[in-house]
Amino acid sequence: MSDNKNFYITTPIYYVNDIPHIGHAYTTTACDAIARYKRMKGYDVHFLTGTDEHGQKIQVSAEAKGKTPQELVDEIHMNFKKLWQVLNISNDDFIRTTEERHIKKVQEIFSRLISQGDIYKGKYSGYYCVPDETYVPENAIIEHDGKKTCPDCGRELIIMEEESYFFKGSKYVPELIKFYEEHVKAVMPKIRYNEIMSFLKGGVKEQSVSRTSLKWGIPVPGDEKHVIYVWFDALINYISALDDKDFNKYWPCVRHMVGKDIIRFHCVTWPLMLLALGLPLPVEIIAHGWWTVDGEKMSKTRKNVVDPFKIVDEYGLHPFRYFLLREVPFGNDGDFSELALVNRINSDLANDLGNLLNRTLQMINNYRSGIVPGSSEISPLSELAPEILSRVDEAMNNYSYDEALKSIWEFISRANKFIDETLPWKLAKDETQQGKLDYVLLNLYEALRLSGLLIAPFMPDTSKRLYAQLGINSEPVKMLYENFSWGAGAGTRINKAEVLFPRIDVKAWHKAKAEVSPVARTSEFSSLRDNMKAGVSCKQAEANARVFPSQSTTAQPQPAPVNAEQVNEIGIEDFAKVEMRVAKIINVEEIPRSKKLYKLEVDLGYETRTVCSGIKAFFSPEELMNKRVILVTNLKPAKLCGIMSNGMILAASVKHDGVAETLTLLTPLDENIPLGSKVS
Ligand code: MSP
Repeated sequence: MSDNKNFYITTPIYYVNDIPHIGHAYTTTACDAIARYKRMKGYDVHFLTGTDEHGQKIQVSAEAKGKTPQELVDEIHMNFKKLWQVLNISNDDFIRTTEERHIKKVQEIFSRLISQGDIYKGKYSGYYCVPDETYVPENAIIEHDGKKTCPDCGRELIIMEEESYFFKGSKYVPELIKFYEEHVKAVMPKIRYNEIMSFLKGGVKEQSVSRTSLKWGIPVPGDEKHVIYVWFDALINYISALDDKDFNKYWPCVRHMVGKDIIRFHCVTWPLMLLALGLPLPVEIIAHGWWTVDGEKMSKTRKNVVDPFKIVDEYGLHPFRYFLLREVPFGNDGDFSELALVNRINSDLANDLGNLLNRTLQMINNYRSGIVPGSSEISPLSELAPEILSRVDEAMNNYSYDEALKSIWEFISRANKFIDETLPWKLAKDETQQGKLDYVLLNLYEALRLSGLLIAPFMPDTSKRLYAQLGINSEPVKMLYENFSWGAGAGTRINKAEVLFPRIDVKAWHKAKAEVSPVARTSEFSSLRDNMKAGVSCKQAEANARVFPSQSTTAQPQPAPVNAEQVNEIGIEDFAKVEMRVAKIINVEEIPRSKKLYKLEVDLGYETRTVCSGIKAFFSPEELMNKRVILVTNLKPAKLCGIMSNGMILAASVKHDGVAETLTLLTPLDENIPLGSKVS
């Protein structure tokens, strides 16, 4: 980290053709938390977000809606602005790539690179992904059903040939490699740093940076048949948003937060552009992982896109912000489930923090008429406090939000334990123990005062509400950590205790959810076997097997049970008859006669097996390769489509009318668990 007390943090600019979802909310909330944290630490922060408004997708959807692209983007960029308001995002600026300040800067940079010989005109031909607006290199193309498809979105590629301007960024690659060698934290986390280094060392081609195939973009100055490639245009937003004064102040301390899917643009293309321009490179580029939903990739076709507006409406803003940053180690992929959110609300927020506040305020009211007593005795809490502060600081400097929150909650738990250890209600009854009671109450109050400060970057309003109840008028956001002095809260008159986070009745929640949505449940997905006993044709067996777990060849599709009570109970001895083990998929083959089945080779550590599994509709072979799964290993082998299948892979599905609409494989959380480990 540089010593510079300025801090410039950016989100990617969001495509306006998409409706905002939790992925977008995640990046921006993460930036917001670090921006707020740094402000509290006395940094001069500049926090930028915005929208990416050019490109083919916008042109196409505007045409479909009978609008001009400009009309469309003017309308829909507001969805993002609205979301940032709802999420209480403290951005200092919002840039749109259709703004004059941006267009001017992009054209200025393009012209400069042409005049210095780093951009030249040539011809380009290659495979192009229209939805992603990118050429796909030959070695990255995925062949699927005889078609060339995009490795990112899976859609079919087209061949595109056009006159194009090229950026000679490749000539700056050695300089960039040297920079990264000297700045090992310039790309975080380490796994992404390694990925970028090996990509750079593999060689970088000259990049096409203009298009003639579309109109909705920034024209190349002096050659208006071409528009500037949308990524070249978009990346420049980080600079075009700053006027000269701000540029000098903030550029040397810029940090880009991005999703792992766009690191090459940010860690290769963008730095090469900056090197060509002779500008300093970003101090840090931080890549976060991706959210899936109940184990599935989020997509409009799967109809599982999580709408942050709805989640905030249903569960409240701060539980959502807390959940996003606490649930997954930053950098890793995470799975969003409403139940996990409910559990976090009940355990961390209502139980741990809410109860600590309530118990403490009630006791100060009851035993000290609402005035915080004084005490100078050292307590386990006052001793732990500085360690927590420095752990939070270290975690935040590494963008390890989950670690920072874990440390804060460790402190809150310690305070709850302190109550159980000291039994203040007993002390209150004993005249000789009043000094000890003062000591307990003061320390609990101080623990809350510190917790309120620490949670401010993550849950700013909760922090304010907590402070209001503690009887503190100033906002925690204005305070510096260095100013916190343990014991200074003595003498404060507290306010009325109010519930910070109401508990959610989980049983009632399940019931309500079961009424509105189909229930996901574990099913034996490869149990096509039962429909495919000897003599049943492949086609017939597949037709019978529309409900995957059906138990007989004649069974008709049944809807999934709507709640646990309707499921037949079994004894543990029945369950124990099923042997399940961790296995890894090591080969995936199509079965020509089958629309639903794949032939899989799975490795159990001690042997490999062939398994036929009816999951073809949900995964490409590439998605399945090397996945760890749970295999039922003691099912009688069965012949499916002429292939002997030796086991069954477990999956969970959501069904409508007995037909699986979405499906996810069960997989162990710990990737290092040895193959063959028993599941019980
Ligand atoms: N417009 C480009 C960025 C240009 S920056 C110069 C873009 N936009 S995007 O809207 O598609 O994505 C913006 C960000 O949202 C990316 O960082 C991406 O990783 C993030 N997410 C989109 N879906 C996501 C999840 N499911 N989970 C987490 N973040 C994901 O790319």
